[in-house]
Amino acid sequence: MGYCFDKVIDRRGSGAIMTDCLKERYGREDLLPLWIADMYFETPSPIREAIEKRLDHQIYGYAVAPESYWQSIIGWERSTHGWEIAREHLSFIPGIVRGIAFVLRCFTEPGDRVVVQPPVYMPFLNLPVANGRRLAYNPLIFDEASCSYRMDLDNLEEVCRRESPKVLILSNPHNPAGIVWPAEDLAGLADICHRYGVMAISDEIHADMALSGAVHHPFPTVSDTAADISITFAAPSKTFNMAGIVSSFCVVPNPAIREKFYRYMESCELNSTMFLSTVATEAAFTQCAQWRLDMLSYVEENVDFVCNYLRDHIPGIRAVRPQASFLVWLDCRGLGLDHDRLIDLFVNKARLALNDGEAFGPGGEGHMRMNVGAPRSMIAEALERLNKAVTEL
Ligand SMILES: Cc1ncc(COP(=O)(O)O)c(C=O)c1O
Repeated sequence: MGYCFDKVIDRRGSGAIMTDCLKERYGREDLLPLWIADMYFETPSPIREAIEKRLDHQIYGYAVAPESYWQSIIGWERSTHGWEIAREHLSFIPGIVRGIAFVLRCFTEPGDRVVVQPPVYMPFLNLPVANGRRLAYNPLIFDEASCSYRMDLDNLEEVCRRESPKVLILSNPHNPAGIVWPAEDLAGLADICHRYGVMAISDEIHADMALSGAVHHPFPTVSDTAADISITFAAPSKTFNMAGIVSSFCVVPNPAIREKFYRYMESCELNSTMFLSTVATEAAFTQCAQWRLDMLSYVEENVDFVCNYLRDHIPGIRAVRPQASFLVWLDCRGLGLDHDRLIDLFVNKARLALNDGEAFGPGGEGHMRMNVGAPRSMIAEALERLNKAVTEL
C-alpha cells in the first residue's frame, strides 16, 4: 500500500516555518498556512528509516560522503532526466539559496548587475541587493489569452547590451507559476548570455516535479553553450519534502568556472557534507521513485481542484496552471482590490496565509501564491474560506 496523501499532520509546534512563524509574518496565528514551499506530506519512509538507522549509531562525528552518495545523484539525473553528469563536475552545496550567493560573491564585484526575470522567487531579488550587487530586470511576458508566461529573449538581449550584467539567475522550472521552460528558450537564453559574457545560474530545485506530461530540461543539456556558461543547482529537498535537512548539489561542466568556484567553496569548507544530508539524499534518489510519482499525481489532482473551484465559484481569481511543482500562482487582479485590501481579504477575512505576490517583484502585484502540497481537505477548506470572504466583499 502506498502513502495516503489525504492524511492530515499537525505541524504546529514542530518548529516548521510554515506553522510556527505566522504571528511574526502575518500578525496573527489563527490562519490556515499554505505559503512557504514545503509540503504537508510525510517525508517518505525510506528517508526517515535511513536517518533513524544512522542516528542509532552512538557517535555523530565527522563523516565522509560515500561514493554511493555521488552515484545516487548521477543515477537519479540519468534515469529521471537523461542527464549524464561526470563525477568531477559535481559538488555538495549547503542549500541552493546559499549556493547562489556564493556564485555572486565568487564571480561578481559590488555594483555589478545581475539579471532576474520577475515575477520570481524572492531570494533572486534579495540576494544580489544584500550582497551589494544591482538588479537588471528582464520581466516575463504574461499572455492573457492562454493565462501563461513566456520569456522575453529580445528584451534579454537589450538588457545585456545596455546593462552589461555579469550573471543571470534562472529558475528552471520557474517559481512562481511553475513554468517548465521549452528547450529552445533555454538554448536561446544561453546563446544571448554567451554573446554578452554573462554566466547563467540555473536553479533546478523544482526539476523533479514536472506535471501534466511536461518535460523538464536540465540547463546544461540544452546545448554545448548552455553547459559551458552555467552553474546548475539541484536538490532532493522539495520533491521529497526534506528541505530542513539541507542537501543540495551543483554541477559545473566548464573546467575554468569549476576550478574557480570549487576553489572558492573549498577555501571556506562550504562544500563539506553533513552526514544526514548524504544519508537522506541517497535514500531519496534510490528508494523513493514511486513515492514521487504518487505525490505528483496527488498534487496534479489538487491543481485541478483549485483551477476548477476558482473557475466555478470565484471568477475574480484566475489560477495560472503550473506545469511543475506544488505552487499555484493566483491572479487576483479581477477582484479590483489594491494591495492592502487584497492582503486584508486573504489574512483577516479568509484567515489564510499565502505568499504575497508583490514580494516576487515587478509583475507580482495583484497576485498570491498558494501551496497545494497538502491534503485535499486543507485545500478545500482554504478555497471555501476564500469564497466566503470574496462573497462578503
Ligand atoms: C526556486 C527556488 N530555489 C531555491 C529554493 C530554496 O532552496 P534551499 O532551501 O536549498 O536554499 C526554493 C524554495 O522555495 C525555490 O523555490
